[in-house]
Amino acid sequence: MGLKPQKRQVANGTRSFEYATTAIFVTKILILLFIAHLSFSVQINDETISLQTQSKQSSSATSEDLDERVRRFLDSHRYSWRDMNISEADGRVLYDLIIKNKYTRALEIGTSTGHSAIWIAWALSKTGGKLITVEINEWRHNQARRNFEEAGLSPWIEPILGDAHEIVPQLPGPFDFVFCDADKEWYKNYLIAVLPKLVVGGCFTAHNVSGYRQYGIREFLDYLRSLPYMETTIDRSSWSGISISYKRQEK
Ligand SMILES: C[S@@+](CC[C@H](N)C(=O)[O-])C[C@H]1O[C@@H](n2cnc3c(N)ncnc32)[C@H](O)[C@@H]1O
Repeated sequence: MGLKPQKRQVANGTRSFEYATTAIFVTKILILLFIAHLSFSVQINDETISLQTQSKQSSSATSEDLDERVRRFLDSHRYSWRDMNISEADGRVLYDLIIKNKYTRALEIGTSTGHSAIWIAWALSKTGGKLITVEINEWRHNQARRNFEEAGLSPWIEPILGDAHEIVPQLPGPFDFVFCDADKEWYKNYLIAVLPKLVVGGCFTAHNVSGYRQYGIREFLDYLRSLPYMETTIDRSSWSGISISYKRQEK
């Protein structure tokens, strides 16, 4: 038997009311979910921003920490460089050249105990570069490694133990900064080996060129000045003299 019309109307009204209640409930849930999503996104963004700020702060703190560590190292070793090392004035010349030209691919021939390498690598830590440095004497090479560690500059230096006469011609390069400070009579040969690997705009520097009468130096400077694509000046910040030769074009 079917429902009477009056009862059917009541049943229909009740169902519509249930539908409406359910729809309102679902809408409320959706609104709540939407609000929750918004606040979650804001929270994530806040966290992201604060993480970014933290990482910026920590990277600048790291570079300041490194500067402080290198300065402390240089101060405490100021009077203990006894292995034919360059002077502080010459170290500053090398540092400034790298910073000014934003060099990043450096080679040193003649590490000794690492004074010049410390100045070079300190500059490279700011340009984002790396130094390869070659030394034949094992004791000096090991002492240099300890110094790089103490100064906090090891990550920017690859020290190689061996004979630069053999190693330098084998290095693939390219280089944009070279500091030559090993056996003077071989300077010209080092230059010849490195020139094809030196980028245009790069710089070949050599120490102790004021000793013009020293065997090898005259030959080296004469050869350098005969190359039309190399532009050479001599820095005399110290009595040693540093030749600074920019490669202006490909050979
Ligand atoms: C003047 S010292 C370098 C000083 C160093 N640049 C500094 O300022 O601390 C020269 C170094 O070149 C090294 N040397 C000489 N002939 C070499 C060669 N054929 N291969 C590698 N190193 C060499 C010497 O053992 C010596 O330690």
